This record gives sequence, structure tokens and C-alpha cells, in this order.
Amino acid sequence: MTTGGAQMKLYLDTGNIDEVADAASYGILDGVTTNPSLIAKEGKDFKETVRKIANILGEYKKDFTVSAEVTEQEHQKMVKQGLELATIHKNVIIKLPSLPEGVKAISILSKKNIKINATLCFSTAQALLVAKAGAYIVSPFIGRLDDINHIGYDLIEEIRTVYDNYNLKTMLLAASIRSPRQVTEVALRGADICTVPYDIFKKLFNHPLTDIGQEKFLADWNKYNKGKSK
Ligand code: E4P
Repeated sequence: MTTGGAQMKLYLDTGNIDEVADAASYGILDGVTTNPSLIAKEGKDFKETVRKIANILGEYKKDFTVSAEVTEQEHQKMVKQGLELATIHKNVIIKLPSLPEGVKAISILSKKNIKINATLCFSTAQALLVAKAGAYIVSPFIGRLDDINHIGYDLIEEIRTVYDNYNLKTMLLAASIRSPRQVTEVALRGADICTVPYDIFKKLFNHPLTDIGQEKFLADWNKYNKGKSK
């Protein structure tokens, strides 16, 4: 289990520039994950979007990452596309699928010091393989497992245990998050990173008792000031 001074990093899962700009403004965002669906949803140029996201994050932090996903399916082509995407910005890391061709590409690119986020991970065996290939991050999709009546958290726990058993340095990123509670649950299970959609990011701040408490403090403060001015 990761302990001590380490913190769970918080990433935003989006291809939307305005969402990145707002989330980054809190000074607590460590990175952004994109995927082909998120990029397609925005309808803008892929590389330009990734560059803009990196520039926004760079205003707040030095050591952020932006994950850009390859869309090629054969490993040599994945390598070529990954190398191209890596030139967008020095903090861009390359997302490759946890598939046989993806693992071949991870082995090649990680030897060239390109950081890889191994995506679409749905089993501990896949997480082991991508770690052996040198992935910098592995992304188990917990929400999509829950969607098919599996227990996404179990995968986080298993990968954490196996990585710790062998002191594997690949970072464990909990992806496919569907609720604010899941962020706490994956933190309890030792995820190194959690990536969340913008609506979940905003919900993380909320608690009704905080709002009620703040309202009461301010009402009392105003009453006190009015009393003093009499
Ligand atoms: C992670 O990197 C993926 O982009 C993402 O978390 C997928 O989430 P979804 O299952 O909500 O599409």
C-alpha cells in the first residue's frame, strides 16, 4: 500500500479546454486524461487540443501529465503515432491499449523513455503485463466493470497488492469514475492517481453541512458587526 508523503494525484478526464481551465484554476489538478471518444465529442483538432490542455496545466504545475491516446492498431504504427504525439509537449504521455499489440508498443516506446499510460485495463493479469513492458501508468476502468456487474474496486485492490508484492513502479490510475464517493473508495485502496470527469470534479467540493455552516458563520458575523455600529 502506498503511504507516507505520497498523495493520490487528481486528473481530469476530458477533452474540453474550458473544463481544464476551470479545474486547473484551483491549483490542485495534477493532469488530464483524454481518449478518442472525449476528443471526438469536442469536434476540435486533436493535437491542438492536447497542446492547449498542456499549456493551461503548465501555468499551475511543472510535473503534470496529459495523456494522448494512439488510434493505430498494429504495434509499429502505434509506435510511430506515439512518437509523433509525444512531440506535442514534453509533458504529454502516450496512451496505449492493454492489448497484445499495445504491449509490444509499450515495450518499444518505454525503452525510448516515452512515458506510457496503459489504458483499457480490466484485469490484474493485464496490469502485470503492461508493468513488465515498462508502462508508467496503468488505467483500470472501474465504472465499466461495475456496469457489467463486476466489482471495479476489487481490481484496484488486486493490482495494488500485486504491484506492491514485486515493488513494481507502474502507477495505478483509477479510471472510469462515476461518482464522487468512488474517489474516496479508490484512495482507500491505494490508487496513485484518480481521473474524474468534470461534473464529478465539481461535486468533490460539496457538502451540505459546509454550506449551512458557512451561512450561519456569516449571518452571526453580520449581526455582530451591526451590533458594534450602533
Ligand atoms: C481514462 O483514461 C478514460 O478516459 C476514462 O476514465 C473512461 O471513462 P468512461 O468509462 O466513463 O468512458
